[in-house]
Amino acid sequence: MSSLILGIETSCDETAAAVVAEGERVLSSVVASQISTHGKYGGVVPELASREHLRAIVTVVREALANANTELENLGAIAATAGPGLVGSLLVGLTYAKSLCFARGLPLIAVNHIEGHIHAVLLEARQRSWAIEFPAVALVVSGGHTHLFEVAEGFRYRLLGRTRDDAAGEAFDKVAKLLGFGYPGGPVIDRLAPYGNAAAVRFTFAKMKGNDLDFSFSGLKTAVLRWVEARDMEAEIAARRALSGNRPSVEQWLAVTPQPTLDLLASFQRAVIRELLTRAVESAQRIGARSLIVSGGVASNSALRAAAQTGGLRFPVFFPSRALCTDNAAMIAAAAFSKFARGEFAGLDTKAQANLTLAG
Ligand code: KG4
Ligand code: ZN
Repeated sequence: MSSLILGIETSCDETAAAVVAEGERVLSSVVASQISTHGKYGGVVPELASREHLRAIVTVVREALANANTELENLGAIAATAGPGLVGSLLVGLTYAKSLCFARGLPLIAVNHIEGHIHAVLLEARQRSWAIEFPAVALVVSGGHTHLFEVAEGFRYRLLGRTRDDAAGEAFDKVAKLLGFGYPGGPVIDRLAPYGNAAAVRFTFAKMKGNDLDFSFSGLKTAVLRWVEARDMEAEIAARRALSGNRPSVEQWLAVTPQPTLDLLASFQRAVIRELLTRAVESAQRIGARSLIVSGGVASNSALRAAAQTGGLRFPVFFPSRALCTDNAAMIAAAAFSKFARGEFAGLDTKAQANLTLAG
């Protein structure tokens, strides 16, 4: 039986398809981003996302097959993200996967998007012979999720902590929107933070009641809002808004961003990173983890990568390459491979689930 898996991912605002062999060799990975559609609204508009997925899905899948130099008949299975995510978006990819499976008599594999993010690292670990030892802690940080999992041998997961309000990426996006930097916020803040003084603005975090491995980012977002309200920033924010649709360069951003705002960005980013790493390290110590995996869109943040890798942690830290941090379908096909090997196939009645969980 062929070990070629076509992965399809449409949980949020990227229409993606990829062909992966043996859960390891990425023969193709196509990602059609909707950033230009949602950018002007400062965030993902669910109705527009489903419409864009509908427009793109057939071409994206065709391109993934063509780039891999293969055809549907050579596949062993088709994998699609079944959740969590925007239900209208999930439905497009999942339904298309089902219809291809039905038409070609191929098995369907349903993949949890968060497990996909974890497999982005495991996929590259296999390619590069990284020795990831288990149990590991996985920090999945994206626009929709901020979760800490224990990952045991055989891909068994236990939830250790999660955000109680905003996801880390969402905090980046909301702060960027507030300051006129457009969507998505993470990459812009990442590029501008080195120009600011991260010690300039002090943020304090309320102590967590209950599970102290949980995160909360809404207080930080409110603190930024208060900081902005206390200053006369309308003109500079308007200048950035006017610029934000034109994919500005760092120099163009710097020309409309005074030093105190750069300091705010740097301080905000440092506060988020501190929160993420403190809890990741604490959970790793508690479960006696032998490695830390960081994945999801926010894992492409340069300062987070640098802090994790130079932070003197007592266990190795693994990040995916930047292209595999944000949503893609190679990670979905990779996550599907172990299910494929175990014959864990999904029925054609599988439903898209907006709140699908990975572990309790
Ligand atoms: O994984 P992803 O593509 O989609 C979700 O599953 O949410 O993550 C997108 C999120 C956005 O919130 C974006 O602002 C954030 O990841 N992000 C970053 C960076 N690149 C993307 N956050 C911080 N630094 C970055 N370099
Ligand atoms: Zn994601």
